[in-house]
Amino acid sequence: MHPIRSTSLLTGLFALAASALPAEVLGADAEAGRQKARQCQTCHGLDGIAKIPIAPHIAGENEIYLITQLKAFRSGKRTHEIMSVVAETLSDEDMADLAAWYASIKITATLPE
Ligand code: HEC
Repeated sequence: MHPIRSTSLLTGLFALAASALPAEVLGADAEAGRQKARQCQTCHGLDGIAKIPIAPHIAGENEIYLITQLKAFRSGKRTHEIMSVVAETLSDEDMADLAAWYASIKITATLPE
């Protein structure tokens, strides 16, 4: 059987996204992340709700997405004058713990009337 190419590419990308980081996600400690998040709270809040206008809300954000962004800031793939400096000091474990903490926060969205 020959799978349709575009479908297999898409499936492959999803598989990649899902399999690239499970070790970190599985080993993550949300409680440790809560402690480490003190250094993020001025801007993102301990609750992941941004406290300054230029910072994004990260509460309830997907763990894999959070780790991917933090690694991108650290590697220089994504650059920002603040976050590039912040991410430089974080280990893989720190990133996994922080992502576990922020991802564990429950958020709700209310559409406008
Ligand atoms: C002094 C303010 C400040 C601090 C402290 C800070 N951040 Fe940020 N963070 C920002 C800003 C501003 C952005 C938006 C960057 C951009 O515009 O590309 C950002 C972006 C991010 C993003 C990307 C979000 C997205 O939606 O793509 C993540 C994840 C993140 N920060 C996590 C953290 C974590 C974890 C910490 C603590 C270890 C932290 N930040 C500390 C200001 C801060």
